[in-house]
Amino acid sequence: MDLYGKMAATQDGKQEGSDQNFDYMFKLLIIGNSSVGKTSFLFRYADDAFTSAFVSTVGIDFKVKTVYKNEKRIKLQIWDTAGQERYRTITTAYYRGAMGFILMYDITNEESFACVQDWSTQIKTYSWDNAQVVLVANKCDMADERVVSVDSGRLLAEQLGFEFFEASAKENIHVKQTFEKLVDIICDKMSESLDTDPALTSGSPATKLTDNPPPPQQPNCGC
Ligand code: GTP
Ligand code: MG
Repeated sequence: MDLYGKMAATQDGKQEGSDQNFDYMFKLLIIGNSSVGKTSFLFRYADDAFTSAFVSTVGIDFKVKTVYKNEKRIKLQIWDTAGQERYRTITTAYYRGAMGFILMYDITNEESFACVQDWSTQIKTYSWDNAQVVLVANKCDMADERVVSVDSGRLLAEQLGFEFFEASAKENIHVKQTFEKLVDIICDKMSESLDTDPALTSGSPATKLTDNPPPPQQPNCGC
Protein backbone atom coordinates (compact mmCIF):
# COMPACT_ATOMS: atom_id res chain seq x y z
CA MET A 1 0.00 0.00 0.00
CA ASP A 2 1.45 3.42 -0.89
CA LEU A 3 1.45 6.47 1.33
CA TYR A 4 -1.88 7.83 0.16
CA GLY A 5 -3.54 4.44 0.27
CA LYS A 6 -2.42 4.23 3.87
CA MET A 7 -3.67 7.74 4.54
CA ALA A 8 -7.06 6.84 3.12
CA ALA A 9 -7.12 3.92 5.54
CA THR A 10 -6.78 6.34 8.44
CA GLN A 11 -9.20 8.91 7.04
CA ASP A 12 -12.05 8.14 9.38
CA GLY A 13 -9.81 8.13 12.42
CA LYS A 14 -10.61 4.54 13.21
CA GLN A 15 -7.08 3.23 13.33
CA GLU A 16 -4.56 5.57 14.94
CA GLY A 17 -4.46 7.68 18.08
CA SER A 18 -6.73 7.85 21.08
CA ASP A 19 -8.61 10.92 19.86
CA GLN A 20 -10.73 9.40 17.12
CA ASN A 21 -12.41 12.65 16.27
CA PHE A 22 -10.88 13.69 12.95
CA ASP A 23 -11.34 13.33 9.21
CA TYR A 24 -7.68 13.05 8.25
CA MET A 25 -4.46 12.35 10.11
CA PHE A 26 -1.17 13.71 8.78
CA LYS A 27 2.12 12.54 10.22
CA LEU A 28 4.81 15.22 9.97
CA LEU A 29 8.49 15.16 10.93
CA ILE A 30 10.85 18.01 11.82
CA ILE A 31 14.48 17.27 10.97
CA GLY A 32 17.79 19.13 10.79
CA ASN A 33 21.04 19.60 12.72
CA SER A 34 21.10 19.88 16.50
CA SER A 35 20.30 23.37 17.88
CA VAL A 36 18.74 24.78 14.69
CA GLY A 37 15.48 25.25 16.63
CA LYS A 38 13.26 22.26 15.77
CA THR A 39 11.84 21.83 19.28
CA SER A 40 11.38 25.59 19.65
CA PHE A 41 9.54 25.74 16.33
CA LEU A 42 7.13 23.00 17.38
CA PHE A 43 6.58 24.60 20.81
CA ARG A 44 5.83 27.92 19.17
CA TYR A 45 3.31 26.30 16.83
CA ALA A 46 1.61 23.96 19.29
CA ASP A 47 1.79 25.96 22.54
CA ASP A 48 2.63 29.49 21.37
CA ALA A 49 5.59 29.51 23.75
CA PHE A 50 9.35 30.05 23.47
CA THR A 51 12.28 29.55 25.83
CA SER A 52 15.87 30.57 25.21
CA ALA A 53 17.19 27.62 27.27
CA PHE A 54 18.61 24.84 25.07
CA VAL A 55 17.57 21.35 26.10
CA SER A 56 18.73 19.06 23.31
CA THR A 57 16.11 16.50 22.36
CA VAL A 58 16.80 12.88 23.28
CA GLY A 59 15.60 10.54 20.56
CA ILE A 60 12.18 11.66 19.43
CA ASP A 61 9.06 13.34 20.78
CA PHE A 62 5.74 14.41 19.32
CA LYS A 63 2.85 16.80 19.71
CA VAL A 64 -0.61 16.72 18.26
CA LYS A 65 -2.49 19.67 16.84
CA THR A 66 -5.84 19.72 15.09
CA VAL A 67 -6.46 22.17 12.25
CA TYR A 68 -9.52 22.72 10.09
CA LYS A 69 -9.64 23.08 6.36
CA ASN A 70 -13.03 23.56 4.75
CA GLU A 71 -14.80 22.01 7.72
CA LYS A 72 -12.55 18.95 7.57
CA ARG A 73 -10.78 18.15 10.79
CA ILE A 74 -7.11 17.35 10.18
CA LYS A 75 -5.15 15.91 13.05
CA LEU A 76 -1.44 16.71 12.75
CA GLN A 77 0.87 14.33 14.54
CA ILE A 78 4.13 16.28 14.55
CA TRP A 79 7.31 14.40 15.40
CA ASP A 80 10.27 16.39 16.72
CA THR A 81 13.51 14.50 16.09
CA ALA A 82 16.87 14.82 17.82
CA GLY A 83 19.45 16.44 15.54
CA GLN A 84 22.41 14.78 17.24
CA GLU A 85 24.12 12.15 15.11
CA ARG A 86 24.02 9.50 17.84
CA TYR A 87 20.20 9.29 17.59
CA ARG A 88 20.16 8.91 13.81
CA THR A 89 19.19 5.20 13.83
CA ILE A 90 16.20 5.91 16.04
CA THR A 91 15.03 9.00 14.19
CA THR A 92 15.30 7.64 10.64
CA ALA A 93 13.05 4.76 11.69
CA TYR A 94 10.25 7.33 11.95
CA TYR A 95 10.65 8.67 8.40
CA ARG A 96 8.57 5.89 6.90
CA GLY A 97 4.94 6.83 6.83
CA ALA A 98 5.58 10.56 7.24
CA MET A 99 3.60 12.61 4.73
CA GLY A 100 5.52 15.81 5.27
CA PHE A 101 8.89 17.05 6.49
CA ILE A 102 10.07 20.36 7.85
CA LEU A 103 13.80 20.38 7.08
CA MET A 104 15.38 23.12 9.17
CA TYR A 105 18.68 24.97 9.25
CA ASP A 106 19.84 27.97 11.25
CA ILE A 107 20.76 31.14 9.32
CA THR A 108 23.56 31.81 11.85
CA ASN A 109 25.10 28.37 11.41
CA GLU A 110 26.82 27.63 8.08
CA GLU A 111 27.28 23.95 8.88
CA SER A 112 23.56 23.43 9.46
CA PHE A 113 22.98 24.83 5.95
CA ALA A 114 25.73 22.68 4.42
CA CYS A 115 24.02 19.61 5.89
CA VAL A 116 20.65 20.31 4.20
CA GLN A 117 21.68 18.24 1.17
CA ASP A 118 22.47 15.26 3.43
CA TRP A 119 19.14 15.59 5.24
CA SER A 120 17.41 15.66 1.89
CA THR A 121 19.18 12.43 0.93
CA GLN A 122 18.03 10.88 4.21
CA ILE A 123 14.44 11.77 3.32
CA LYS A 124 14.80 10.17 -0.11
CA THR A 125 16.39 7.07 1.43
CA TYR A 126 14.01 6.45 4.31
CA SER A 127 10.65 8.04 3.50
CA TRP A 128 7.76 7.52 1.10
CA ASP A 129 8.27 8.81 -2.44
CA ASN A 130 5.40 11.25 -2.19
CA ALA A 131 6.47 12.89 1.08
CA GLN A 132 6.38 16.69 0.84
CA VAL A 133 9.14 18.92 2.20
CA VAL A 134 9.37 22.54 3.35
CA LEU A 135 12.86 23.96 3.89
CA VAL A 136 12.90 26.35 6.86
CA ALA A 137 15.67 28.86 7.54
CA ASN A 138 15.15 29.45 11.26
CA LYS A 139 16.38 32.25 13.58
CA CYS A 140 15.78 35.00 11.01
CA ASP A 141 15.44 37.37 14.00
CA MET A 142 19.25 37.15 14.44
CA ALA A 143 20.06 39.44 11.51
CA ASP A 144 23.43 40.56 12.95
CA GLU A 145 24.71 37.00 13.13
CA ARG A 146 23.40 35.86 9.76
CA VAL A 147 25.89 33.82 7.69
CA VAL A 148 23.46 32.20 5.21
CA SER A 149 21.76 34.65 2.83
CA VAL A 150 18.06 34.46 1.99
CA ASP A 151 18.99 33.98 -1.68
CA SER A 152 21.21 30.96 -1.06
CA GLY A 153 18.44 29.37 1.01
CA ARG A 154 15.83 30.03 -1.67
CA LEU A 155 18.13 28.76 -4.44
CA LEU A 156 18.86 25.52 -2.61
CA ALA A 157 15.14 25.00 -1.97
CA GLU A 158 14.46 25.48 -5.69
CA GLN A 159 17.20 23.01 -6.61
CA LEU A 160 15.80 20.42 -4.22
CA GLY A 161 12.19 21.11 -5.25
CA PHE A 162 11.14 22.18 -1.75
CA GLU A 163 8.97 25.05 -0.54
CA PHE A 164 10.94 27.65 1.42
CA PHE A 165 10.37 29.95 4.40
CA GLU A 166 12.66 32.13 6.46
CA ALA A 167 11.24 31.88 9.99
CA SER A 168 11.77 32.59 13.65
CA ALA A 169 10.44 30.44 16.45
CA LYS A 170 11.48 33.20 18.85
CA GLU A 171 9.64 36.06 17.15
CA ASN A 172 6.86 33.85 15.78
CA ILE A 173 7.64 34.63 12.13
CA HIS A 174 6.27 32.27 9.45
CA VAL A 175 5.80 29.41 11.92
CA LYS A 176 2.10 28.92 11.26
CA GLN A 177 2.58 29.62 7.55
CA THR A 178 5.14 26.81 7.32
CA PHE A 179 2.69 24.26 8.71
CA GLU A 180 -0.16 25.65 6.59
CA LYS A 181 1.92 25.35 3.43
CA LEU A 182 2.95 21.80 4.30
CA VAL A 183 -0.67 20.78 4.92
CA ASP A 184 -1.70 22.46 1.65
CA ILE A 185 0.86 20.65 -0.46
CA ILE A 186 0.06 17.32 1.21
CA CYS A 187 -3.64 17.88 0.43
CA ASP A 188 -2.77 18.74 -3.18
CA LYS A 189 -0.69 15.59 -3.51
CA MET A 190 -3.46 13.55 -1.92
CA SER A 191 -6.03 14.81 -4.40
CA GLU A 192 -3.69 13.87 -7.26
CA SER A 193 -3.19 10.37 -5.88
CA LEU A 194 -6.69 9.58 -4.70
CA ASP A 195 -10.11 10.57 -5.83
CA THR A 196 -10.42 12.52 -2.62
CA ASP A 197 -12.33 15.50 -1.33
CA PRO A 198 -11.56 18.40 -3.75
CA ALA A 199 -12.44 20.86 -0.99
CA LEU A 200 -9.15 19.97 0.67
CA THR A 201 -6.94 21.16 -2.18
CA SER A 202 -5.31 24.55 -1.95
CA GLY A 203 -6.44 25.45 -5.46
CA SER A 204 -10.12 25.51 -4.56
CA PRO A 205 -11.71 28.63 -3.07
CA ALA A 206 -12.13 29.18 0.67
CA THR A 207 -9.64 26.52 1.72
CA LYS A 208 -7.84 28.53 4.36
CA LEU A 209 -6.51 26.46 7.21
CA THR A 210 -7.75 27.53 10.65
CA ASP A 211 -7.34 26.47 14.26
CA ASN A 212 -11.03 26.98 14.90
CA PRO A 213 -13.68 24.35 14.42
CA PRO A 214 -16.50 25.22 12.04
CA PRO A 215 -19.73 26.43 13.69
CA PRO A 216 -22.17 23.64 14.47
CA GLN A 217 -24.57 22.86 11.61
CA GLN A 218 -28.00 24.46 12.08
CA PRO A 219 -30.73 21.88 11.76
CA ASN A 220 -32.93 22.57 8.74
CA CYS A 221 -35.96 24.50 9.84
CA GLY A 222 -39.11 23.02 8.40
CA CYS A 223 -41.19 26.22 8.57
P1 GTP B 1 18.16 19.23 19.05
O1 GTP B 1 17.02 18.82 19.89
O2 GTP B 1 19.50 19.02 19.70
O3 GTP B 1 18.14 18.60 17.68
O4 GTP B 1 18.04 20.86 18.81
P2 GTP B 1 16.77 21.67 18.28
O5 GTP B 1 16.89 21.81 16.80
O6 GTP B 1 15.52 21.08 18.79
O7 GTP B 1 17.02 23.12 18.91
P3 GTP B 1 16.16 23.88 20.03
O8 GTP B 1 14.76 24.12 19.57
O9 GTP B 1 16.32 23.17 21.31
O10 GTP B 1 16.86 25.32 20.04
C1 GTP B 1 18.26 25.48 20.23
C2 GTP B 1 18.54 26.87 20.76
O11 GTP B 1 18.19 27.86 19.78
C3 GTP B 1 17.73 27.21 22.02
O12 GTP B 1 18.56 27.94 22.88
C4 GTP B 1 16.60 28.07 21.49
O13 GTP B 1 16.13 29.00 22.44
C5 GTP B 1 17.26 28.79 20.32
N1 GTP B 1 16.32 29.16 19.26
C6 GTP B 1 15.44 28.34 18.65
N2 GTP B 1 14.75 29.00 17.72
C7 GTP B 1 15.19 30.28 17.72
C8 GTP B 1 14.86 31.45 16.96
O14 GTP B 1 14.01 31.47 16.09
N3 GTP B 1 15.57 32.59 17.26
C9 GTP B 1 16.54 32.62 18.23
N4 GTP B 1 17.16 33.77 18.43
N5 GTP B 1 16.87 31.53 18.95
C10 GTP B 1 16.21 30.37 18.70
MG1 MG C 1 15.12 19.47 19.96
